[in-house]
Amino acid sequence: MKHTDIIRKLNLEQKCALLSGETVFTTRALPGKGIPSITLSDGPNGVRKQAGAADHLGLNPSVPATCFPTSSATACSWDEALGEAVGEAMGEEAAAQEVAVLLGPGLNIQRSPLCGRDFEYFSEDPILAGKMAAAYVRGIQKKGIAACPKHFAANSQELRRMASDSVVDERTLRELYLTGFEIVVKEARPKTIMTSYNLINGTYANENAHLLQDILRKDWGFDGAVVTDWGGSNDHALGVKNGSTLEMPAPGGDAVRELMQAVQSGKITEADVDARLDELLTLVFDTHAAVQSHSRTFDADAHHALARRAAAESIVLLKNENDLLPLAEGAKVAVIGDFAQTPRYQGAGSSAVNSIKVDTFLDCLKESGLASVGFAPGFDRQGKPDAAKQAEAVALAQKAEVVLLCLGLDEIKESEGLDRGDMRLADNQIELLKAVQQANPNTVVIVSAGASLETPWLAHCRALVYGALGGQAGAGAMVDVLTGKINPSGKLAETWANAHADTPAKDNFAGAGRTVQYREGLYVGYRYYQTAGVPVAFPFGYGLSYTSFAYSELKADARSVTLTVTNTGSRAGAEIVQVYAAKPDARIFRPAQELKAFTKVWLEAGESKTVTLPLDDKAFRYWNTKTDSWEVEGGTYELRVGASSADIRLTAAVEVNGTSAPNPY
Ligand code: BGC
Repeated sequence: MKHTDIIRKLNLEQKCALLSGETVFTTRALPGKGIPSITLSDGPNGVRKQAGAADHLGLNPSVPATCFPTSSATACSWDEALGEAVGEAMGEEAAAQEVAVLLGPGLNIQRSPLCGRDFEYFSEDPILAGKMAAAYVRGIQKKGIAACPKHFAANSQELRRMASDSVVDERTLRELYLTGFEIVVKEARPKTIMTSYNLINGTYANENAHLLQDILRKDWGFDGAVVTDWGGSNDHALGVKNGSTLEMPAPGGDAVRELMQAVQSGKITEADVDARLDELLTLVFDTHAAVQSHSRTFDADAHHALARRAAAESIVLLKNENDLLPLAEGAKVAVIGDFAQTPRYQGAGSSAVNSIKVDTFLDCLKESGLASVGFAPGFDRQGKPDAAKQAEAVALAQKAEVVLLCLGLDEIKESEGLDRGDMRLADNQIELLKAVQQANPNTVVIVSAGASLETPWLAHCRALVYGALGGQAGAGAMVDVLTGKINPSGKLAETWANAHADTPAKDNFAGAGRTVQYREGLYVGYRYYQTAGVPVAFPFGYGLSYTSFAYSELKADARSVTLTVTNTGSRAGAEIVQVYAAKPDARIFRPAQELKAFTKVWLEAGESKTVTLPLDDKAFRYWNTKTDSWEVEGGTYELRVGASSADIRLTAAVEVNGTSAPNPY
């Protein structure tokens, strides 16, 4: 223990009191003992520090801060350096606002497109989610405050989130739901981690010894503080015994008495309390000092510019028939859709930032060089049919060369605490699209939504651009992509299924009762679609560019993959190269292929670069339920290098030594 000297001077009541919060977002102080209070604030895409009345639902206003694109957006950049830059800016704003712990990033697996918080999470894939989250954590912690990756673990739906029991087999848990957290913990060393509300296989995450002791601390070497989700403590004493450091928000004297009685009755020991207190004191002293020495200001303009760059790098071009995009200078455009004047740029709930300023598509268009023939809102945002609005939009569409149609999900559709009911755009928006396309076939659909949608209307547009929830500067980034000032380089971090009926968790997601059975096992997202041969609208890792790329000269062994990427088009651009591992002759069942490495390569027109992607310990391993450890099936593996999960350009066979473990099946 690091703080034995201080801990020895505290009585049991003082010790127990320090292990729960004083107010909604602060810890208890003991000034006489030199222990200050620290502030914890959300969240994953910007700082939400509530200066007045505080709540954990994002209801009362917070101090203005930069609203960056949500995680489901920046994941589409596949750019760890960008994630780190965003993290660093958020860490700086947090420290400037005297926030010691920033409650993010969120990295739960997007198990179903319907999870209300998918916008706060990175991906359906644990490697992409883990790498992006680790980048955020490195950035946030650069100035000495703490990041708090969340929600640990298997928390992939909002319905009954405080009572649901995620029933998930150990192999699926390890390979899918924990691997991202393992990457964050081992590669970025977060100072805290937040447990999830739910139970896992019958035990609350926050008092789950298997999760918090065996895996987090022993297997991964986590030595920071574990923080409950807000109101996520069930049995505080069991939490403390099993590895949960700090109960939040402010349970009052009850939590203190409960803990003291548990020590007195022998349910837990004073040594358990001391161990947690030691973790807490390290967190408090370290981050308090970082906050104290930090400046109280930050460069809001620079952060706005970074938010714009982050949004630009994350935009995904999904369709571009006959190269309709980019638009030429002076092109006559009609702007249609309510989202052009009132952007949908972040999600609802505890992540909602009080943005310093918010750019609108209409304003940004003024400096674009495009010639606007006018704007029409086109539809009622809440989905009510409105014939007059539609007629006005259709009339406007006829006057333009190209229609820029801003569609998306309204605010209520994606929120913490509430799952989506379906994956559809509102009927009135689809109707408008069809009517507009009749009037002007050169229709570009621009989508604002934090998660995937069904696109049965795809044939009714010539171009489709996914802006996700692009943050306060997202509108300008979108305009830059449409005009070609930015060459789009984002690729989907989540498969877009043809229909919700095709999604693997559909029968076991947000159902009746408390139990959530993860029956689809390893087969989440592309792992399912590709193994089962289910066609999708847009595959995982997919995204178009205004230029083209060629892949050549693949060399691979079990430790790395090297290849040359060439920009074969006429514009500078970036390509996201993805490496998938497959074992067609596997004896241990596994998904058809799994992402193992990726990199983003920036290339001038005509330029070639040779890139090497290292393969780590996660490239060939699987969780063996007989030996209860990671094992490797020996033999030949295919390393597939592609521009998406469905567009494999080069393949190499590599021999891998196995661990000769018994086959559990
Ligand atoms: C959310 C957390 C958040 C906390 C504090 C909870 O409801 O699940 O993600 O950090 O509130 O606002």
